[in-house]
Amino acid sequence: MNPIFAANWKLHKTPKETRSFFSQFNDVKPETKARIVFFPTAICAEATSESLSRLPQLKSVEWGVQNGFTEAKGAFTGENSMQVVKELGGKWVLIGHSERRSLFAETDEQVAKKAAFALTLGLTPMICIGETLAEREAGQTFQTLEKQLEKGLSQIAKSAVFVLAYEPVWAIGTGRVATSEQVQEAHRFIFEFLKKHNFSTETPILYGGSVKPENAKELIQVPHVNGFLVGGASLEPATFLGIISST
Ligand code: PGA
Repeated sequence: MNPIFAANWKLHKTPKETRSFFSQFNDVKPETKARIVFFPTAICAEATSESLSRLPQLKSVEWGVQNGFTEAKGAFTGENSMQVVKELGGKWVLIGHSERRSLFAETDEQVAKKAAFALTLGLTPMICIGETLAEREAGQTFQTLEKQLEKGLSQIAKSAVFVLAYEPVWAIGTGRVATSEQVQEAHRFIFEFLKKHNFSTETPILYGGSVKPENAKELIQVPHVNGFLVGGASLEPATFLGIISST
């Protein structure tokens, strides 16, 4: 399967900065068979969509938002409408990122509802899972992943097309990357879960957590690693391209 490289911009970049980021691709064509996906802030969705449609060499590049609500419209002040993402040409919704879970109290039940709603609109959910440092140190990594998978995937069809991102919370934005062995055992566990529960074993499983050009080459070779979800290192075209060219 072709790898997926996804950029999670979190609360970075204004519309002007978004346009400036993409304008740096005027003369650069990413030489890759990989799928590239950007997750800007929802407020920069239009700037992203416009920038990508103006650059023929980025025609195959896709985008989505970092969070979306479970209803298309209504009295839900402050939420992101997935319907709007669809109208603007977005194809993805990032769901259950650890910052949503820890800072905004998002539960596995909400993750499940959001994933199901994204699929009804024809958007692809990229569902994030991962253990905290305390859970890892207590030997509970697999229990945590199993619970997040069981609950998070509980409302979607076995045939659904979605993507998982394994992001150990202790590796996000810390510069502390998981070892190849740690990544391999978690990804194998996730793969086996999908198989056991009759989801497609072709479901891509991305790794996220301090991915950089320097460690991407080693990590992409780990079995069952089908790409990356990249935070900090996706903010500059050169470093993100450095990661993309790891394949
Ligand atoms: P990081 O973030 O690459 O800065 O560690 C990854 C993420 O939060 O998705």
